Amino acid sequence: MPIQIREVRPSDLPARERIFRGAFSAGLRPHIFPNGQTEADLIHSFTENLEGLKTKMSTSDDQPGQRCFVAFDTDTPADASDLVFPEAWEHKAEVALSEEEKKNAKKVVGIAIWVLQPVARTQEQYDKEAAEKGPNTHSPSANGALLDAMDAAMTASKKKYLGLEPYLYLRILAIDPAYQRRGVGSLLLDQGMEIADRCGIQSYLEATKVGRPLYAKYGYEDRENMDFDVVKYAPTAKDDPPHQFMVMIRPVGGKKSDGRA
Ligand SMILES: CC(C)(COP(=O)(O)OP(=O)(O)OC[C@H]1O[C@@H](n2cnc3c(N)ncnc32)[C@H](O)[C@@H]1OP(=O)(O)O)[C@@H](O)C(=O)NCCC(=O)NCCS
Repeated sequence: MPIQIREVRPSDLPARERIFRGAFSAGLRPHIFPNGQTEADLIHSFTENLEGLKTKMSTSDDQPGQRCFVAFDTDTPADASDLVFPEAWEHKAEVALSEEEKKNAKKVVGIAIWVLQPVARTQEQYDKEAAEKGPNTHSPSANGALLDAMDAAMTASKKKYLGLEPYLYLRILAIDPAYQRRGVGSLLLDQGMEIADRCGIQSYLEATKVGRPLYAKYGYEDRENMDFDVVKYAPTAKDDPPHQFMVMIRPVGGKKSDGRA
């Protein structure tokens, strides 16, 4: 399974949803969509993410914004379901691959979403960005209260640990379960570390229990265990073990090692 990395494209949106569903089938996702994801949810997600790809991306190391990469298996054709968009989606024709491109499409097996803030901000810039962010919008059947609470907790933690300093934030790393523990996550992390090192900046993330050992190998250090009271927002979580995230920071110039945290 030779794996390669490339920048994300709008046609990757169905693969992205499939990978999130598989990678986060435990954890919070079942409580975010307690009744499953409907077509309307999918259309909402595709629309939001397409807008993000058009307006929120960073295309160079000195431009703040998102950097998104996918890993794909050069030996395996794309899943047929990854090449289909809902009939009712108004942007379907804009993003769908041509028949020729579909024949050559490879299976997407992992995704990393980074947020780059390459230079320090003033308090004024920070406040302006926060004010411009506006309220979160959610898929119609998503548990919005839970998503808002998580977002607030993570925003507060980033404010506490990063303040106005530059950073590279790993917002999401998710690998198709059939491809986990084969080095795909590491390849995507290597890509991010190259950006952080080129920019000479720290990198920040909130680790799940399963991700934490890998991040420690990449030089990320534990900062704080965030206990998230999911049951307050999602009664369906009452029998779950505690939902915890470790805030981790890889200092400027952090080094990869085989050691464990
Ligand atoms: C966490 C996650 C992103 C890691 O991705 P991955 O592709 O499995 O990562 P890798 O294969 O590069 O490394 C994972 C482990 O497999 C080991 N590994 C890598 N290649 C291997 C191979 N060929 N054979 C055996 N083990 C291997 C790594 O050393 C690492 O070990 P460690 O966990 O003891 O540090 C993935 O498991 C995932 O998507 N999990 C669910 C979603 C999630 O929790 N994401 C993290 C959010 S913070």
